[in-house]
Amino acid sequence: MNKRAEFAATNLEQAAFWMPFTANRQFKKSPRLLARAEGMFYWTHDGRQVLDGTSGLWCVNAGHCRPKIVEAVKRQVAEMDFAPTFQMGHPAAFEFAERLARVAPNGFSKVFFTNSGSESADTALKIALAYHRARGEAGRYRLIGRERGYHGVNFGGMAVGGITANKKVFGPGVAGVDHIRHTHDLARNAFSRGQPRHGAEFADELERLCVLHDPSTIAAVIVEPVAGSAGVLVPPMGYLERLREICTRHGILLIFDEVITGFGRLGKPFASQHFNVMPDLFTVAKGMTNATVPMGAVFVKDSIFEAFMQGPEGIEIFHGYTYSGHPLACAAGIATLDTYEEEGLLTRAAGLAQHWEDALHALKGAPHVIDIRNCGLMAAIELEPRAGQPGKRAYEVFLKAFQDGVLIRVTGDTIALSPPLIVERSQIDRIVECVRTMLKAVP
Ligand SMILES: Cc1ncc(COP(=O)(O)O)c(C=O)c1O
Repeated sequence: MNKRAEFAATNLEQAAFWMPFTANRQFKKSPRLLARAEGMFYWTHDGRQVLDGTSGLWCVNAGHCRPKIVEAVKRQVAEMDFAPTFQMGHPAAFEFAERLARVAPNGFSKVFFTNSGSESADTALKIALAYHRARGEAGRYRLIGRERGYHGVNFGGMAVGGITANKKVFGPGVAGVDHIRHTHDLARNAFSRGQPRHGAEFADELERLCVLHDPSTIAAVIVEPVAGSAGVLVPPMGYLERLREICTRHGILLIFDEVITGFGRLGKPFASQHFNVMPDLFTVAKGMTNATVPMGAVFVKDSIFEAFMQGPEGIEIFHGYTYSGHPLACAAGIATLDTYEEEGLLTRAAGLAQHWEDALHALKGAPHVIDIRNCGLMAAIELEPRAGQPGKRAYEVFLKAFQDGVLIRVTGDTIALSPPLIVERSQIDRIVECVRTMLKAVP
């Protein structure tokens, strides 16, 4: 056990660390501490190996502690720790943006840097509002999200997000926000392999909101192409196409939140390419730097950027973060793209997707399982909630799997899986068998 892990292990009940999205009192009584990571594995503070079935938090797409990325960060921190990007610049930020634009879909040649998925969501919403104003359509102020959507925890993303627990204690939020319904339809689509067949018509809710509010008041619609945090909700066939069509018809910007789906999770660099539906802006974070250094970004269509370049000379957008384009994050990001390219990781999931799907769907009939969903290298196993104790059963599966040496993730009664893109077939089988065993072990 190294010194830091030893300290943490012995002092937790009174620890100063207020842990995010965590049952602090429960956790500190019985902590789960990770002390080291490499490739597909973590090691706990007491030396147990844990297979990472969740890419950390959907973010370590190339696996842990990849040497090229580690070296690049070390080199950069020794050379220049920080440089501002307000009215100043440094080469790594320009180089990384250029490299990102090269992997992005055609027409997305401009990148705005943030430091997280939450900041990316708020940045994209602000760009959308400012874009309409720049073109003389300041009346477009409404922002539309979706039930069960997750766009981070800042005020904009929280407002358009659709997870009740993340919103209910934080006041009235942002004005002018509405939501379309989610796409989950267990009755018609349970155990769909890949995209479900039913539900394209859920996109028509947007048309209904256009009638209610008048489309000329709507600035943007934001959705995750595959809703991740709410339990891997795969878009029904034809759904994204229909959203695109309605947005185009009414001059509404379509924003894809690709914080999870970006950087190879679905077998193409981005979900828009996988589904062949192009947004107007999209957000990323997580896999952008392989999570080595926090970073996010918003990609915008060239025409959106150009609209900002038509005004009088001067600062074109009064927005940005001290750490936008941080040198360490850029160095990590460039080395991450190198690693993705050298190992073909941005498309590797496509070759694994069938094995992944077959392995996951073999859990049909296992105790408590009421649905299995998959797309690329994402999957969810939804469990029947225990009467009067929502989320408890899945949480127990999570605890037992961790004891058995596999890291899974749970949201409510859904188990979510998304291993690093370097995962081997045998490791997929190990994850699935562990889940099967633990499903049998919980009441
Ligand atoms: C789709 C989506 N958007 C935004 C976020 C927020 O990202 P962050 O936690 O980096 O702020 C997440 C995080 O899981 C996400 O899944």
